[in-house]
Amino acid sequence: MNRGSHSPAYSILENASLRARNSFGVEARAALLIDVRKNDALRELFGYAMLQRDPVLVLGEGSNVLFTRNWPGVVLTLATRGIEVLADDEQTLRVRVAAGEHWNDFVHWSLARGACGLENLALIPGTVGAAPIQNIGAYGGEVAEFIATVEAWDRQQGNFVRLQPAQCAFGYRDSLFKHEPDRYLIVAVEFELPRRRAPHLGYAGIQAELDAMGVAAAAATSAQVAEAVTRLRMRKLPDPAVHGNAGSFFKNPRVDPAFANTLRAEHADLPIWDADGGLVKLSAAWLIEQAGCKGERDGDAGISARHALVLVNHGHASGAQLWAFAQTVRERVRARFGVELEAEPRIV
Ligand code: FAD
Ligand code: EPU
Repeated sequence: MNRGSHSPAYSILENASLRARNSFGVEARAALLIDVRKNDALRELFGYAMLQRDPVLVLGEGSNVLFTRNWPGVVLTLATRGIEVLADDEQTLRVRVAAGEHWNDFVHWSLARGACGLENLALIPGTVGAAPIQNIGAYGGEVAEFIATVEAWDRQQGNFVRLQPAQCAFGYRDSLFKHEPDRYLIVAVEFELPRRRAPHLGYAGIQAELDAMGVAAAAATSAQVAEAVTRLRMRKLPDPAVHGNAGSFFKNPRVDPAFANTLRAEHADLPIWDADGGLVKLSAAWLIEQAGCKGERDGDAGISARHALVLVNHGHASGAQLWAFAQTVRERVRARFGVELEAEPRIV
């Protein structure tokens, strides 16, 4: 492994800045940064003692990571590209997508090919390889519904493996990969997308957005739903290019229905949704706003004035400052409502 070297399969940089590689825009350095362009390079790379010994962090576009410190080992990105059609008939389109493809590009590629299902997930930042990690979801959809197989490099076995959806333990912003972060590097995802599917328009705002576009909800195409979702997202969420952020910083907490009802008795407008496992989901944004944190800041670390669930870097906050501010928010929500908030992004 030649440090500072470039080969067609990978390139290596020592003491690399990650500022441009995380959507919070915070500074952190990687002892070694490896960009992999060919999956076969993983066999060679994981044969080196350093990758067996030192901590390895897989990084996509860094839109769901908060660096509070430097990374002492290897940061590895899968910069692989390619969408391969595996089967194409009147019912479904089955494709294999390389981990390094940009998620939103793939969504639009699939819509242009006349496949549907991913329209509610338009404009989510990040790579295809990261999509299974937290089972990305938005506007009433979750990616797990369309995943047929996850291909990964298994560091434990030193081999490529194919995981079926049942093995991936997908849940709300959750999967096997979140629980075994040091084991799998996702190299490609196979999707099975329907050719026809009734659009999912139940999430608040989609129908109103279609109305504003002059589209009758009953006749909306998948591409029009994607456009409505895109417009809604651009209005509601701060742009990371302007104010660094990672989207929702906390998960919507899942609690016992009895506890939710006691909160509802005091706060009639608290949003509550059904969740799996007999639990209900509370709106973390609502709790944070009611705890008085929306638009608050300490230096350059703050909560967005546009959306209470978004922790933002107003300019030069460090990752440690952002994390400290997130703790303040958690404490205020705990003190006011007795609810424990859990961070959604990976905290390094
Ligand atoms: P990274 O942030 O680089 O990595 C995220 C995690 O995945 C890390 O733990 C990393 O180690 C791991 N990882 C990444 N790639 C791989 C790989 N190939 N193999 C193994 N592990 C890997 N998320 C939603 O679910 N819904 C939303 O609506 C949504 N909206 C967002 C809006 C904004 C403005 C932003 C900034 C983020 C939003 N997110 C949302 C979060 C983010 O877009 C997703 O989590 C996305 O999947 C992260 O992709 P990434 O490539 O940036 O991954
Ligand atoms: N709300 C407030 N104050 C705010 C914003 C929202 O009180 O400033 C309340 C409103 O009552 C609103 C409710 O929260 O109706 C829900 O808001 P929103 O529709 O924006 O959804 P969210 O629960 O805040 C979730 C996901 C988002 C996803 C949207 C749309 C989580 C943690 N977040 O946000 O995902 O895009 O729904 O489906 O589940 C992400 O994971 O990074 C992300 C952005």
